[in-house]
Amino acid sequence: MKCRLLCVRCAKTYPFQLMGKCECGGVLLVDYDLERAVRTMSKSELKERPFTMWRYRELLPVHKEERIVSLGEGGTPLIRMHRLEEQLSLKQVWVKREEQNPTGSFKARGMSVAVSLLHERGAGHAAVPSNGNAASALAAYAARAGMKATVALPRDCPAPIIDECRYYGAAIELIDGLIHQAGERIELGVRENGWYHVGTMKEPGRVEGKKTMGYEVAEQLGWKLPDVIVYPTGGGSGVIGMWKAFRELQALGWVNDPMPRFVCVQEEGCVPVVEGFAASRDTAAIGVAADKRRLTPRAVFRPTPNERVTSQPTGMRVPAPPDGGLIVSIVLESQGSAMAVSATEIAEAQRRLAGMGVSASPEGAATLAGLLKLAAQGCVTDRDRVVLFNTAHAQKYGVTAM
Ligand SMILES: Cc1ncc(COP(=O)(O)O)c(C=O)c1O
Repeated sequence: MKCRLLCVRCAKTYPFQLMGKCECGGVLLVDYDLERAVRTMSKSELKERPFTMWRYRELLPVHKEERIVSLGEGGTPLIRMHRLEEQLSLKQVWVKREEQNPTGSFKARGMSVAVSLLHERGAGHAAVPSNGNAASALAAYAARAGMKATVALPRDCPAPIIDECRYYGAAIELIDGLIHQAGERIELGVRENGWYHVGTMKEPGRVEGKKTMGYEVAEQLGWKLPDVIVYPTGGGSGVIGMWKAFRELQALGWVNDPMPRFVCVQEEGCVPVVEGFAASRDTAAIGVAADKRRLTPRAVFRPTPNERVTSQPTGMRVPAPPDGGLIVSIVLESQGSAMAVSATEIAEAQRRLAGMGVSASPEGAATLAGLLKLAAQGCVTDRDRVVLFNTAHAQKYGVTAM
């Protein structure tokens, strides 16, 4: 057995299958037979493999290699930002250039795994509610697999992303509402038409794909972990995936460093993780099970009501992340933080990154806006090695003279 599903909350296990939640409501994550994985995968052997995320295939849940649906995802550069280091008096600042993935965002990673799992099972129609980038990634990977795709998007999704979904041949539903209302549309299609739901936490593939960002950062830093990860957070599966990746590397003995501090950045006007963090910081006791793969989320978590959502239409605008409690628990356990940045701060950070040659989406730029605040508050110091995640290209949002 290569892997099974394990509930992060109650530790119940299930044979591997396409489900996202345990009967107790906890998130199910893929649990690997690590000893078996390292029989064919070693640090030196990895060097011989192409630099795509499938180099870690023993630790990905696809069983039939010939069913892998790939467009060359992963293997993105990690570049050092010397000028920022000087300006902020920090030891090391790196940018993980996720915009260089197929479809211009890190969502390619999760969709490559999710669509591969469907392709293994002969599924014909996949569907996703999305703020945009997951939708265009699904559209491309479904096209690659010869599968149909339906995507439901808030009507104010940036036009270039809607066009991209159309370009890859997806059926598009524009919704007068936010991502969770788009989710209701997809649920209907699942019930009535038998679509396969690849939304956040509906199946195990997307977290597994995103986890490879963590493996890559560790490998690119010479099997060292950074001290701080700054991540633009929406549904949160990137944070959950990387936390899982680092746990797995620690369990394998491939890294000896402590867990990086996860800093979740969100835009003012939709900050459920920031609020959950603030509410839990002083009170929550986070139970970490002895096997180090479980977290007992006791974090306080309440979604942001629709009427309070005023942020821009980006991937961070997720008022009700499917497992906000787990995200907040990871932030707390890692001694990280969660912070809000304004639209103006994001735009300024986007200009600053452009001035350094980096095409950053608003989400990617939000991580720099967050870092500026962390530095000003003394929460990062000249001892810290920081990685910012530039999760998508500026062009996906329509580049204007800024
Ligand atoms: C560009 C971009 N960055 C960040 C996010 C948020 O990612 P996660 O769902 O992993 O929190 C999204 C999600 O749509 C996105 O499209």
